[in-house]
Amino acid sequence: MMMQGMPQPAFYIFKCQQSAPAGMPKPSCVKPGDQESQELFGYLAQKLMTKGIMGTVQPIQTSCLGRCQQGPVMLVEPGHTMYVGLTKEKIDRIIDEHLIGGNVVQEYVIPEEFWGEPIAPSSIAS
Ligand code: FES
Repeated sequence: MMMQGMPQPAFYIFKCQQSAPAGMPKPSCVKPGDQESQELFGYLAQKLMTKGIMGTVQPIQTSCLGRCQQGPVMLVEPGHTMYVGLTKEKIDRIIDEHLIGGNVVQEYVIPEEFWGEPIAPSSIAS
C-alpha cells in the first residue's frame, strides 16, 4: 500500500486582522466601533469547522495586506484572490461558491484599479 503523507491544504485564507488604534484616522480591517469587523475571523473559522473543511482550508490571521481602504479584506491562495468589504454574509458565499464550489465570487473581488498585475521581482531586481 502506498503511504499517504499528510495532505497539504487546498487553500490558505489570509485574513487581515489589523486594527488601527482608537482615534487614528487611517482605516483598518478591524474597526474599533464595528463589531462585525471584529468577529469576522472567528466567524470564518467557525464556518469552516461547521462545513467540515477546516484543515484543508487553513485560515491565517495576518497584519496589514496593504489595501486598508477596502477593508475588511482577506486573500485566498492559491489564486491570489483579494476579497474586500467583507461581511459574514459574504464569507458564507465565498465558502460555498469559491472554496467548495470552485468559482471565485467576482462581485466581492477588489476592483482591478486597486489590484493591478504584479511586478516580477526578476524584472526589477538590482
Ligand atoms: S489594515 Fe487590513 S489591509 Fe491594511
